[in-house]
Amino acid sequence: MKTEVLHADRHSLALAADLLTSGRLVAFPTETVYGLGANAEDRDAVLSIFQAKGRPADNPLIVHIHDRSQLNRICIVPDKAEQLMDAFWPGPLTILFEKLPVIPDVVTAGLPTVAVRMPSHPVATAMLKACNLPVAAPSANRSGRPSPTTAAHVLEDMDGRIPLILNGGPCEVGVESTVLDLCHGVPTILRPGGVTKEMLEDVLHEEVALAGSILRPLQPGEKALSPGMRYQHYAPRAVVTLVEGTEDAVLSFLKESYRQASRRGEKACVLCFSEHLDTLRECCPHEIGSRNHPEEVAHRLFSVLRSLDDENMESVFSEVIPPEGVGLAVMNRLGRAAAFRIMHAE
Ligand code: TXA
Ligand code: MG
Repeated sequence: MKTEVLHADRHSLALAADLLTSGRLVAFPTETVYGLGANAEDRDAVLSIFQAKGRPADNPLIVHIHDRSQLNRICIVPDKAEQLMDAFWPGPLTILFEKLPVIPDVVTAGLPTVAVRMPSHPVATAMLKACNLPVAAPSANRSGRPSPTTAAHVLEDMDGRIPLILNGGPCEVGVESTVLDLCHGVPTILRPGGVTKEMLEDVLHEEVALAGSILRPLQPGEKALSPGMRYQHYAPRAVVTLVEGTEDAVLSFLKESYRQASRRGEKACVLCFSEHLDTLRECCPHEIGSRNHPEEVAHRLFSVLRSLDDENMESVFSEVIPPEGVGLAVMNRLGRAAAFRIMHAE
């Protein structure tokens, strides 16, 4: 199959709508990452998403809508969700709802809940309006790879597997949406993202819990609240180690680790803040953004992780940011890229 990459315009959006209506797949930009969409009400179309990605069938998908009137058909909406939708939709917040039968079980991997979000990217909105369907879409990467934040990333992973990629430029947020569970008692973040715990608490006027496995691996026998958390995601082929501690101790540790790895004959690099590029210039520094701007780190992170594979890196040592605000999403993705291997520099 030939994969076309087209700039989003009236012609390509009409083509995307035709493809989606006829059960085919379309990759499209959102404000978080690129998605790989299919008509959420078409079981076979949804199954082909799992095939194209090589995604385990027990990992459910997010359904994308452009208008809240679409919700009545697909799920039951509790009062609490209304305030959240008023505050954060369209935007990077996914909410779990009790599912209605029109959504096939393949979308939710058999779960009674369906994850729904309304993206804010103008191309996503235009595409969802043009087809006027609820669109099931995971991130448009091959399973296990970092999520794509440019059309070129999608092409790397999906060339020959899907008919169309709509190019809307780089994604602004850069990490996937926040997934929030409102169905089981205390509102719980299953996956941190662009809408932070602090922002949710401000609107809900109550405490929001974090799923246990956000900043550590799942323990043996522990149930994943969000099935996606079970899988090793975002992981480059290199062995990634995160280094925490005071600024000076971290910088010395990074230099020493890089030196030792190079001495062992490994292809090594460091991931560092813009502020440390010069200090670490001998250590093949890869810039992850300013330490004072976690949004910038989120925006760049997946591109940097992908570049590690392109450069055949074997050993990677990275700085960390405080797990607050968007920093929590960054540390969740970085932690998983590192299989939660964290060293404390003294
Ligand atoms: O920003 C995003 O959310 C992107 C863009 C394309 O919208 N999509 C995305 O989808 O990241 P995906 O499939 O890569 O991640 C969906 C996450 C997975 O961790 C999955 O386990 C969780 O949402 N999820 C989906 N439905 C769920 C459900 N019913 N219960 C618990 N977790 C669910
Ligand atoms: Mg994904």
